[in-house]
Amino acid sequence: MALLLGCKLLSLFLLSLILILVSPSLSDPLYQVCGNTGNYTANSTYESNLNALLPSLASNGSDRGFYKGSVGRVPNQVNALILCRGDTNSSACRSCLDLARQDVLQLCPYYMTATIWYDNCLLRYSNLNFLNSTDNSNVFYMWNTQNETDPDKFNKLVGELINSTSQYAAINSSRRFGTGEANLTAPDTKLYGLAQCTPDFSGDQCYTCLSGMFSLMQNFAGKRGGRVLGSRCNFRYELYSFYEGKSLLQLPSSSSSPPPPSNGTNTTGNGNTTTPAVPTVEGDGNKNNIGMILAIVIPLVVAFLLISTICICFWRRRRLAKKIPHDTNPEEITSVESILFDLSTLRTATANFSEENKLGQGGFGSVYKGTLQNGREIAVKRLSAGSGQGIGELKNELVLVAKLQHRNLVRLLGVCLEEEEKMLIYEYVPNRSLDTILFDSIKREQLDWGRRYKIISGIARGLLYLHEDSQLKIIHRDLKASNILLDEDMNAKISDFGLARLFGGDQTGGTTSRVVGTFGYMAPEYAMRGQFSAKSDIFSFGVLVLEILTGRKNSNFLETEQAEDLLSYVWEHWTRGTISEILDPSLGDRWPRSEALRCIQIGLLCVQEDPASRPSMSMVGLMLNSYSVSLSAPSKPAFCVGLTGGMDSDALQKVITFPLVNSIDHQTNPSQ
Ligand SMILES: *[C@@H]1O[C@H](CO)[C@@H](O)[C@H](O)[C@H]1NC(C)=O
Ligand SMILES: *[C@@H]1O[C@H](CO)[C@@H](O)[C@H](O)[C@H]1NC(C)=O
Ligand SMILES: *[C@@H]1O[C@H](CO)[C@@H](O)[C@H](O)[C@H]1NC(C)=O
Ligand SMILES: *[C@@H]1O[C@H](CO)[C@@H](O)[C@H](O)[C@H]1NC(C)=O
Ligand SMILES: *[C@@H]1O[C@H](CO)[C@@H](O)[C@H](O)[C@H]1NC(C)=O
Ligand SMILES: *[C@@H]1O[C@H](CO)[C@@H](O)[C@H](O)[C@H]1NC(C)=O
Ligand SMILES: *[C@@H]1O[C@H](CO)[C@@H](O)[C@H](O)[C@H]1NC(C)=O
Ligand SMILES: *[C@@H]1O[C@H](CO)[C@@H](O)[C@H](O)[C@H]1NC(C)=O
Ligand SMILES: *[C@@H]1O[C@H](CO)[C@@H](O)[C@H](O)[C@H]1NC(C)=O
Ligand SMILES: *[C@@H]1O[C@H](CO)[C@@H](O)[C@H](O)[C@H]1NC(C)=O
Ligand SMILES: *[C@@H]1O[C@H](CO)[C@@H](O)[C@H](O)[C@H]1NC(C)=O
Ligand SMILES: *[C@@H]1O[C@H](CO)[C@@H](O)[C@H](O)[C@H]1NC(C)=O
Repeated sequence: MALLLGCKLLSLFLLSLILILVSPSLSDPLYQVCGNTGNYTANSTYESNLNALLPSLASNGSDRGFYKGSVGRVPNQVNALILCRGDTNSSACRSCLDLARQDVLQLCPYYMTATIWYDNCLLRYSNLNFLNSTDNSNVFYMWNTQNETDPDKFNKLVGELINSTSQYAAINSSRRFGTGEANLTAPDTKLYGLAQCTPDFSGDQCYTCLSGMFSLMQNFAGKRGGRVLGSRCNFRYELYSFYEGKSLLQLPSSSSSPPPPSNGTNTTGNGNTTTPAVPTVEGDGNKNNIGMILAIVIPLVVAFLLISTICICFWRRRRLAKKIPHDTNPEEITSVESILFDLSTLRTATANFSEENKLGQGGFGSVYKGTLQNGREIAVKRLSAGSGQGIGELKNELVLVAKLQHRNLVRLLGVCLEEEEKMLIYEYVPNRSLDTILFDSIKREQLDWGRRYKIISGIARGLLYLHEDSQLKIIHRDLKASNILLDEDMNAKISDFGLARLFGGDQTGGTTSRVVGTFGYMAPEYAMRGQFSAKSDIFSFGVLVLEILTGRKNSNFLETEQAEDLLSYVWEHWTRGTISEILDPSLGDRWPRSEALRCIQIGLLCVQEDPASRPSMSMVGLMLNSYSVSLSAPSKPAFCVGLTGGMDSDALQKVITFPLVNSIDHQTNPSQ
């Protein structure tokens, strides 16, 4: 007991000491831009909307590190976006945002548009709705004033590291966040890089955004640290590790940087001292202290961590190891207790939710791969906080969802509701999701016509079960390629079903103010007016069918094609009778013509603008399986869904042709 009390007092003391020492240097804004879209006045509607929106950003977004929200109606509508650096935890994110919203009102008083950057977060708001736009304007850059001694080799490595880290963020990370390190020729010296985009960007959008800023590095070539920050993406490099956690990427030592001399008698150019890990800054006495502060703080932190580890160990040993739920027969699930997993079991299974075990991230939270002690592989969906539903109500729903069983649905094995955490445990499906195969130029070769047809039929059967055959009548509301998992035999399994029902409110249909779907898949009536029904799932199914047949994504079609979107593209070729031109080229000519045409027609019928003209899921099942059913002729589908929201296409053009880079030189000292 005395030990425990001692522990508490000591940790409090150490914590406050750390806060006193570190916080002033971390809390200065890096930069802010006050926009020129007009000013509001005191006590105006705009001000009250802004005051309502700013505090909610941190509460809704700190867990995920990203959030977009709007309050009010045009012209007093306030739109805001926040982004925390990918390695900050939710409390650091929240405190950065709390600071940001206070500072920004002082630094940009009465400006309708403002953007403010910190080391750990970014806040932007405006009366113009920029939330769906990829505009990255107000780009600025900063550098460390120290020069590197061998700039040519160094610059080359910096370029490679930032490029690879950006690719990691765009391709490998669903959170659009990457960190990487590379060895320099001098022994024990490493270069550290970080790149991040807002996670609502697709991989292509993210890489386009980041690579659009690469050339700005010329402005500080040869400097020992530098960063470029925009309102949608940013990158940074330093000669010291400036982010939390292990680097996600190790740059292989390339031919351009020869290995360090083996016997150490000859060091190349850099002299015989190793570079200090924390660079000091010339011409700014204030920040010179950081190295010293860290020198004091680090031993304290280590001591603190040691002591808290001991405390936690004592505490944990007193707890009893709990049972692991065994395979349950869905029929036997009667209460939530039979499907409860222990939090500690899940922590062990997923190596404490480590980044390496992360499979992806969706609107509802992150998914981790885990292995139970008995060897069974599981996928753990860790839901972001903020669902309003009560635990009691949730438990009843969970029992119902766990009872759903169909070979085209991913099976829910259990749940964990402990310590504010809400997690769902699913069977692990080895081939990952359809989008990782369908939209990959090499892996898509695995999907021959037969497999694609099987996947389409599988999704149709799973959806039919959800809509009509299960006792619950579930509307999925977020059906898309990344929610279709493929098992080892390429059987399609729908995942994330029931989540909207569990966490999204209404059940049988109606209107909702919280649209949960994904751009490009949402039915127009759902995207624009929030009305959903089984027919909005049918729309998403239609988009999915067209994607599977053409191998093209609906969601980022705009950037790559002349046609406005996938649906109008397919429609144009359908009316011209040139469907063979748009089928995925990797199918070659190995596809049966009548079957392919029939599938395209079914896809088009499902994406009709009027929900009443879309077929039901049981009708789709019949159309797929029986040639005796004649199909009605589709009319022009709804187009440009989601991306335009309620805007007309002129407005869309304006948003997309915003000035891309609006650079501002901004020399500063290197940061911490
Ligand atoms: C907004 O107010 C600032 C000063 O607070 C002023 O410099 C700026 O010109 C004003 N902008 C407009 C559009 O009135
Ligand atoms: C705004 O309202 C406050 C009290 O609600 C009042 O004190 C202040 O004078 C008002 N300001 C303006 C510019 O009307
Ligand atoms: C955001 O947070 C506020 C409370 O701060 C809450 O009222 C609001 O419903 C939240 N919005 C969402 C979408 O969770
Ligand atoms: C969050 O991160 C900050 C700084 O990176 C650290 O001081 C704090 O202990 C972390 N909090 C939790 C709950 O991990
Ligand atoms: C770095 O090099 C530039 C010229 O290339 C020089 O003007 C500057 O003073 C140097 N800075 C330091 C810290 O040596
Ligand atoms: C980034 O790397 C890719 C291949 O890895 C290469 O094709 C591209 O030219 C590189 N871009 C820059 C700016 O170095
Ligand atoms: C990133 O993804 C690409 C393509 O999927 C893969 O080849 C590469 O190994 C991945 N890199 C890392 C560091 O995971
Ligand atoms: C980088 O250097 C470390 C030791 O300093 C070594 O363990 C690691 O393998 C090196 N990495 C590469 C990619 O050369
Ligand atoms: C060490 O370096 C010297 C030249 O600097 C070279 O002559 C010698 O062979 C090297 N020894 C080893 C073991 O590589
Ligand atoms: C050290 O190596 C460099 C080339 O890597 C060479 O030019 C130089 O002569 C060497 N010095 C000694 C003392 O070996
Ligand atoms: C190498 O280090 C020694 C002492 O550590 C120093 O006297 C000497 O000047 C250094 N040589 C170079 C080339 O920096
Ligand atoms: C942006 O997308 C959301 C859907 O996530 C939609 O509700 C909103 O109307 C769109 N806004 C604009 C301006 O397109």
